[in-house]
Amino acid sequence: MKHKDTLTRTIKRLFAEPKGILAIDESISTCNGRFEALGVATTEENRRDFRHMLVTAPRIEEYVSGYILFDETIRQSSPDGKNFAHILKEKGIDVGIKVDTGTHPLPFSEGELITEGLDGLRDRLVEYRETYGATFAKWRAELHMGADMPSDTAMLTNAHALARYAALCQEEGIVPIVEPEVMMTGDHAIEEFYDVLASNFDILFGELEAQGVWLSGIIIKSPMVIDGKDAPLQSTPEVIAEKTLDCFKQFIPHEVGGIVFLSGGQSPDQALTNLNAIGVRTAKKKYPWPITFSFGRAIQQPALEAWAHNPKDHATAQDLLVATARANSAATIGKA
Ligand code: 13P
Repeated sequence: MKHKDTLTRTIKRLFAEPKGILAIDESISTCNGRFEALGVATTEENRRDFRHMLVTAPRIEEYVSGYILFDETIRQSSPDGKNFAHILKEKGIDVGIKVDTGTHPLPFSEGELITEGLDGLRDRLVEYRETYGATFAKWRAELHMGADMPSDTAMLTNAHALARYAALCQEEGIVPIVEPEVMMTGDHAIEEFYDVLASNFDILFGELEAQGVWLSGIIIKSPMVIDGKDAPLQSTPEVIAEKTLDCFKQFIPHEVGGIVFLSGGQSPDQALTNLNAIGVRTAKKKYPWPITFSFGRAIQQPALEAWAHNPKDHATAQDLLVATARANSAATIGKA
């Protein structure tokens, strides 16, 4: 593997304490859905203006080491013609890119999904790296909890695709964020969620190893081990933190480069409190991998609402964005 040094250096920058990653890689339809909910017109110009506000937030680089962009966003520029990826690089922020092309129904598996995007991926990775300086990428699998779900077929096919993506990224010197998201929707108890994450990690690492992926050169993006959104009993942040770290310790190989959390529909406050409970523990005891956040909604939401209210006032939205990023940064060491 010829890019070990490059991958190692990128991972080191991304996990420079006390920073985390900001995900702003919503697809056009997901971004439009968030706009519609707030009465914002779903135009390319509005998506550009919102992302412009996000990438130019003053001093966010003190709390955020990398931004994950979407294909449309990485090609967009400020009104004075500065490409967003270049703005981030000038701030010392690593540029990441979501490279999967979304989920589709998985044949013979009612209600389950497979993530697509492998065709032409090698060429796209080269373009993102050469033209926009991308140093890391993301691919998200989406698994659902339910009667007999996720099925072995859904876990296996998605793990296979994640491993193919990760291998291609490493071959091009790009750090793959490998994201096997299991959705929080449902009324399952935290123990059931733990077991599903555990089985899925087993299957995923089997595929990654079978395809020769260098584990020290990947980042795992995971949900916290948490109760279903509609579960009658909701665990405390302390229980969530204990179970999450226990699951990782037992099912994520120690050589993995690092672990980041998605917020997955937790409210900004909930994600922050749970991250802080995890940070309290990782600050006290050494774990094999660095751990931080890679939140999307849990960091963007307050800024999105302010921007939707008054799109001309970037400063107010940026203050909220930076304050939320600062709080999450403090949470990674249990100091929020
Ligand atoms: P959320 O934190 O909003 O879940 O988004 C993070 C992400 O990148 C999911 O793929």
